Amino acid sequence: MEYTVKSGSPEKQRIGCVVVGVFASRKLSPSAALLDEASGGYISNLVRRGELEGDLGQTLLLHNVENTLCDRVLLIGCGREKDVDTRNFRKINSIMATTLEAGGTTEAASYLTEIQVKKHDITWKIRQSIEAIDEAMYHFKLLKSDKKPPRRPLRKFIFSVSGRGQLMDGEVAVRNGMCVSSGIKLAKDLGNMPGNICTPSYLAQQALDLDKQNPKVTTTVLEEKDMENLGMGALLSVARGSRQPAKLITIEYRAGDKDQHPIVLVGKGVTFDSGGISLKPGAAMDEMKFDMCGAASVLGTLTTCAELQLPVNVIGIIPTVENMPDGLASKPGDIVTSMSGQTIEILNTDAEGRLILCDALSYAEKFDPDVVIDIATLTGACVVALGAHPAGLLGNHKPLINDLLNAGEISGDRCWELPLWDDYQEQLNSNFADMANIGGKGAGTITAACFLSRFTKKYHWAHLDIAGVAWLSGTAKGSTGRPVSLLTQYIFDRVAEMQ
Ligand code: BES
Ligand code: MN
Ligand code: ZN
Repeated sequence: MEYTVKSGSPEKQRIGCVVVGVFASRKLSPSAALLDEASGGYISNLVRRGELEGDLGQTLLLHNVENTLCDRVLLIGCGREKDVDTRNFRKINSIMATTLEAGGTTEAASYLTEIQVKKHDITWKIRQSIEAIDEAMYHFKLLKSDKKPPRRPLRKFIFSVSGRGQLMDGEVAVRNGMCVSSGIKLAKDLGNMPGNICTPSYLAQQALDLDKQNPKVTTTVLEEKDMENLGMGALLSVARGSRQPAKLITIEYRAGDKDQHPIVLVGKGVTFDSGGISLKPGAAMDEMKFDMCGAASVLGTLTTCAELQLPVNVIGIIPTVENMPDGLASKPGDIVTSMSGQTIEILNTDAEGRLILCDALSYAEKFDPDVVIDIATLTGACVVALGAHPAGLLGNHKPLINDLLNAGEISGDRCWELPLWDDYQEQLNSNFADMANIGGKGAGTITAACFLSRFTKKYHWAHLDIAGVAWLSGTAKGSTGRPVSLLTQYIFDRVAEMQ
């Protein structure tokens, strides 16, 4: 999609469609009022007759509105003017995009940017609009034999800004929005790719491609032999049951000062999680192809950073394996030694995410990080606790936690803190090793984070459990690209504070 910004009144736009808002109950937005005036009260008449109440999500498409230069006018119900928040603003934009595409409009100008959204400026509104529109237009067709796009795809979008003074800000916002969106799209595509194609080697190839396309990106891939030499017994134990070799991918994006400590992102890359010998039940097991969505969000976020050439140092680390049952696979009761030297009793081979993450987190120390954030579809318990709305957030450094909570509020890609109290640590006690890999009954998301906390003592660390937010189930089954929006917002904020 091509996005641009422009100032000027709606009746003067020579374009396929002009989009304006109507609030509940029947209150015209400023641009709707301008069109109404130009057309001699046509719109207010329709609204008075009850054609459109202005409830959130209502639409009305008008043709040949008098004294306007556009082919059509799309009215969108925005709900009560005071109630437009992040969620509603995205919803309005998403409905706009689907309605336009269904109607065969190829070019449109949106005046929804004039709507007041609590505390947010035009830059924010443009970025949110782009994310919402691209989200609504996303279809994963790579593996369908019919890959044809719609006959008349929506391809050009203009955001209205009020006056020339906002043009520059608007253009910056468009660039940011498009690059965030392209990171989200990559994360979605990788997530949606099936496990027989998206293997650890496939993810490694993606990271190498990113290196090829960007001079500031350097990718290295450690093979199993290298990991053995580093003593990564926990990570390697998960890969033992698979024909697919494990990889440890490092993607270094360095565009900040040389002496600036990097932000390190560690993404869980289990390309298929069968559970291993502690085999998962069959229902919905296909969804365990999404168990690499943490890795996908790291690749997506680095793509955004590189496309925008952000002046910052960000390093992505992706431990990636396939978790399968096999004669060589780990068995319940097996004990492995992690890179840190701590020993782990594997009581459940389905708690594999923490086993690959712990070695990747020890490996992260060598980058002398400013902060480390790991992103993982780690526990079903997180879905029980928080559902599909926020990611779970835990960590050992309050300022980092607050930064992430904030970035979540701004981006609309939210997270929610759970307590990482020492009280929970004893649930990991093992009679035979330094710790067990499961915490037994109760607080599964927290005990998983407690496990990770034993490997992150040397730096500021936060953990995002994205089990509930990384993909949707049911008829809309598919990867969401979360939390790329949250992570890029966090990095934008860090860049702003460094300037
Ligand atoms: N990848 C799963 C977590 C998961 C399960 C995410 C369902 C989304 C939906 C993870 O590897 C796992 O299997 N975790 C176990 C841990 C348990 C054995 C302590 C779980 O949550 O059941
Ligand atoms: Mn598992
Ligand atoms: Zn898993």
